[in-house]
Amino acid sequence: MSPLLNIAVFISGTGSNLSSIIDHQCQYNYKVKVVISNKKDAKGLAIARSNDIDVFTFDWDEEDVNLFAVQQIVKKHQCELIVLAGFMKILPEPFINAFTNRIINIHPSLLPKYPGLNTHQRAIDNNDHIHGATVHFVNAELDAGTVISQTIVDVDNETNAQSLAQKVLFREHSLLPYTISLFSNKRLKWYNNDLYFDDLPLTQPIKLNE
Ligand code: GRF
Repeated sequence: MSPLLNIAVFISGTGSNLSSIIDHQCQYNYKVKVVISNKKDAKGLAIARSNDIDVFTFDWDEEDVNLFAVQQIVKKHQCELIVLAGFMKILPEPFINAFTNRIINIHPSLLPKYPGLNTHQRAIDNNDHIHGATVHFVNAELDAGTVISQTIVDVDNETNAQSLAQKVLFREHSLLPYTISLFSNKRLKWYNNDLYFDDLPLTQPIKLNE
């Protein structure tokens, strides 16, 4: 088995994905070394603290494009992967470039559909029959990095944005830990700007429907 993958998880809010990431650590061969938040009162920080995980909070400063203190914390904890799990800020390009192909994000839509906010309402307004969540690499463009994995849910006639959000979030709780395991178990690799999954080029998102 590969050695444990150290990860940093960035959050801004409730932290239900963080909770699920922590619950799957042993099964999936990774360890949450630090939880980082731009919000001092993010509910998810209590989850980190109750699991004896280091916490670091910082004030968002538009000028500080390198997020130097954050970089130092990630490096100090020897994290090889940064996981954005409900982190509601757009990371500046110099920071992203410091961790090329080592930052992933979970987004509640089937990208490339609906980057940005209000994804559930937009899916309903467009009469979509399916909706879901995506894990993707983070690049300088919002929700536009290479897609890794997706989970798909049906949109029923009686669904509203809130119930759809819950349905998707439930699936996110499996999708994100599973996708981190693809890094910890070295099943994802980059060769010359192409992403490979189990040594084959990844031509469509890996699907996890549980
Ligand atoms: C999730 O829906 C995630 O896809 C989005 O923000 C939400 C975070 O929820 N980026 P939680 O804080 O993990 O409960």
